[in-house]
Amino acid sequence: MNVDGKEMRPIWFEKDSQTVKVIDQRFLPHQFIAKDLNTVDDTIYAIKEMVVRGAPLIGATGALGVYIALVQKDNKGCDNDYLNSQCKRLKDARPTAMNLFWGVDRVSSAALKHENYKNRVEAALNEALKIIEEEAFNCQKIGEYGLPIIEKISKKKNEKPVNVLTHCNAGWLACIEYGTATAPIYTAFDNSIDVHVWVDETRPLNQGSRLTAWELGKHGVHHTIITDNAGGHIMQHGMVDIVIVGTDRTTRSGDVANKIGTYLKALAAKDNNIPFYVALPSSTFDWNITNGIADIPIEERDPDEIKYVYGLLNGKSARVLVPPEESPAANHAFDVTPARLVTGFITERGVCKAAEQDIISLFPERSK
Ligand code: MRU
Repeated sequence: MNVDGKEMRPIWFEKDSQTVKVIDQRFLPHQFIAKDLNTVDDTIYAIKEMVVRGAPLIGATGALGVYIALVQKDNKGCDNDYLNSQCKRLKDARPTAMNLFWGVDRVSSAALKHENYKNRVEAALNEALKIIEEEAFNCQKIGEYGLPIIEKISKKKNEKPVNVLTHCNAGWLACIEYGTATAPIYTAFDNSIDVHVWVDETRPLNQGSRLTAWELGKHGVHHTIITDNAGGHIMQHGMVDIVIVGTDRTTRSGDVANKIGTYLKALAAKDNNIPFYVALPSSTFDWNITNGIADIPIEERDPDEIKYVYGLLNGKSARVLVPPEESPAANHAFDVTPARLVTGFITERGVCKAAEQDIISLFPERSK
């Protein structure tokens, strides 16, 4: 995406130096820092510590991580046990986003088809770069399929601003291009539809107020940051026309895991008759499970992420303690929104209802 006149992606492979590079999202929006990933340890650290984050981007990083495992110094790239153990380590970096397992497995299968080391490395890099391009294209399609939904609301409102509420960051920073939840918003904006986005700040790490607000602002999209608890109130007062969120893992029956707080937005949307859409590429579906609440592992992160807040203080980044230091905190990073609360999915193949047979009608190759 275009940032201050420069084309950017959150991950890229620099051909000259043969290096995987990422934007370090921990420091946005106040500092723009790019980081090299040279080893599997670097890659695991980047995923765990959320240098990179968002399901499709974690998938792309894991995919390039397999290539990194093969080329890193002292590699044992032709030792299958070694490669499999590195893939397992990559997949263990975070538990919820389906894309991580999908990306690592896809690249390791492509690599393991070759015995010869050079061919193996080449296959891994090609497959990882293919995934990156495919995911960028999928998000573009999500934008195209989501556009008529926003367009219809705009027409109904006589072209008054369409108010979209989104949670967390499901933008291009979380993907490769366009984003998932933001793709229909950017496409509507680029088609001269008046859109305004309510950006949930998304405690504790503030992916909404730090990242979504930054992205939307750079693209010129009108937006307002709200507290995570404000959604219900503004929905009751007719200030939200549609909710669009992303997802980290969605079951074949349509249950949606996404950033903690998504479920409460879905409940409030249902109570106020507001459409609640989930935008996702097919790499986020977990085709093997049907009960999201029982079967999707929910990451629990360091409680210090709740207790300490980062920001700028007198122009310098600062970390500040909020509650009593000795108070315990629990940091559940995701929740599950049952399919019954979801109006529909916006995917790279079109829009469907959140029900197994409707999902499978778009992805017939996944029928049992
Ligand atoms: O913990 P994060 O920042 O990786 O969580 C990200 C989200 O919850 C996003 O909404 C989700 O990955 C969809 S991204 C297109």
